[in-house]
Amino acid sequence: MVAMQLLLALLPVTVVLASNSLLPKELFSSLIAQKLLATSQLTTGTPTQYPQYTTRDTGSWVLLGADQWTSGFLPATFYALYERAALCPLIMGSSTANQWLDIGRGSSTGEIPLEIHTGVGHDVGFLSFPFVSELSVNPTNATALHAVNTFATALAARFNPIVGCTRSWDTADPTDFQVIIDNMMNLEVLFVSADLTGNDTMRQMAISHADKTSENHVRADGSSFHVVEYNATTGIVDARYTSQGYSNSSTWSRGQSWGIYGFANMHKRTGLPRFLDTARRMASYFLTNMPADGIVPWDFNAPLVPPRPADSSAAMIATNGLLLLAQQELSLRPPNTTGAAYYTHAAIKLLNDTTRAFWKPEWQSLLSNGTVNNPAANNLTGIVYGDYYFIKAGNELVRAGLAHC
Ligand SMILES: *[C@@H]1O[C@H](CO)[C@@H](O)[C@H](O)[C@H]1NC(C)=O
Ligand SMILES: *[C@@H]1O[C@H](CO)[C@@H](O)[C@H](O)[C@H]1NC(C)=O
Ligand SMILES: *[C@@H]1O[C@H](CO)[C@@H](O)[C@H](O)[C@H]1NC(C)=O
Ligand SMILES: *[C@@H]1O[C@H](CO)[C@@H](O)[C@H](O)[C@H]1NC(C)=O
Ligand SMILES: *[C@@H]1O[C@H](CO)[C@@H](O)[C@H](O)[C@H]1NC(C)=O
Ligand SMILES: *[C@@H]1O[C@H](CO)[C@@H](O)[C@H](O)[C@H]1NC(C)=O
Ligand SMILES: *[C@@H]1O[C@H](CO)[C@@H](O)[C@H](O)[C@H]1NC(C)=O
Ligand SMILES: *[C@@H]1O[C@H](CO)[C@@H](O)[C@H](O)[C@H]1NC(C)=O
Repeated sequence: MVAMQLLLALLPVTVVLASNSLLPKELFSSLIAQKLLATSQLTTGTPTQYPQYTTRDTGSWVLLGADQWTSGFLPATFYALYERAALCPLIMGSSTANQWLDIGRGSSTGEIPLEIHTGVGHDVGFLSFPFVSELSVNPTNATALHAVNTFATALAARFNPIVGCTRSWDTADPTDFQVIIDNMMNLEVLFVSADLTGNDTMRQMAISHADKTSENHVRADGSSFHVVEYNATTGIVDARYTSQGYSNSSTWSRGQSWGIYGFANMHKRTGLPRFLDTARRMASYFLTNMPADGIVPWDFNAPLVPPRPADSSAAMIATNGLLLLAQQELSLRPPNTTGAAYYTHAAIKLLNDTTRAFWKPEWQSLLSNGTVNNPAANNLTGIVYGDYYFIKAGNELVRAGLAHC
């Protein structure tokens, strides 16, 4: 945060003004609070259900049971609105802050049974998001402390020292060890838990996982494979392929976005230059492969005919990844203001173009045109994590002094 304020002070005035003038007004629309309040009322039952994506025709949330990798995003969104109420008292009304905190707290309790049993594998990191947010409100909340440490321990238990990674998906053959690029996002819970308990093993596991991912998922041109399959007994890479992308050698855009964010976060957590280098290379591939219309395709290599579905969620994750990368450039000594200005501008353009195309007032979600899984024919929907990262981007820009609510 201090670093981003530095950005404002150091950027040439013209860059800041140019960026501000690109910001979409929808970023702070009153529809955001209205829709999220309505969604909170849809989902308060017992057991709690969580939205993941909408229908394609009417944009109505499809509610699923708690044991999904995406369950943490709705409660984390409510916490993000709690933060926004403090950042934007004039538009939100400071009295609404406690309302969002109450809703976020209530909504996250449906995840508690997942501490005992979950089928989400490595995605316990995503499940931890609302509890990590709770700790920034109340660092001594025992429920949240327990959740974070339990989810981190579950991820650490998936670490294989021969492979050097945490296992992403469970497989029938235990020697078949699959790691997906998305797993970069789950490493944060290891750092949070290590900070809480002083257990450095968790940090070392995260660093090892990131190093292996940089080596084996990221190609020389900064693009990425979705899945790398290791042999758990030998640690050797058996295969590289896709699960959700267009082809085994293509670059699935959401995976690329997770990578930008995940490696920028590794630099934030460790200060190791090699992680900044990987984040820069992944960002460079993303930005130089963006089509002229500014719309992120679901896979960078998907054919243009028939028209390829977009993925607004990949765009929102990349927006946040680029903002985090800009902060990392500013954390260098001396600060890399040129790099920071470049990534900030790219993030704002992506946000602007995506919002212009996909802001959807008449749907329950904020954005449309997300692609959950195109090979599984799930495209053209709203997505809970696309909306989460849309709100988070607005908060980050306000915090950095680059936007006004
Ligand atoms: C502690 O956090 C949990 C969720 O993380 C929440 O449900 C609970 O209300 C919080 N307790 C207090 C006393 O704030
Ligand atoms: C640190 O965490 C690892 C992974 O969960 C665990 O195996 C180890 O026992 C922990 N160390 C301590 C001192 O608790
Ligand atoms: C992994 O390697 C071991 C030892 O070479 C072999 O027995 C096993 O079949 C391999 N597993 C896979 C999934 O290829
Ligand atoms: C990826 O390769 C595997 C194994 O060769 C094959 O079964 C699969 O169909 C390929 N996937 C795509 C999307 O081409
Ligand atoms: C600043 O950032 C840009 C973009 O990542 C990079 O190309 C450049 O090398 C960086 N400069 C320094 C001094 O680190
Ligand atoms: C930003 O979005 C506005 C509409 O919301 C559009 O008019 C403008 O062309 C966009 N600018 C850029 C550079 O994308
Ligand atoms: C967005 O989705 C709608 C259907 O909901 C579709 O008609 C439109 O072509 C999509 N836009 C883009 C740019 O992909
Ligand atoms: C989008 O999903 C539909 C099924 O809902 C599928 O038939 C179609 O092939 C997908 N679109 C593209 C261009 O891949």
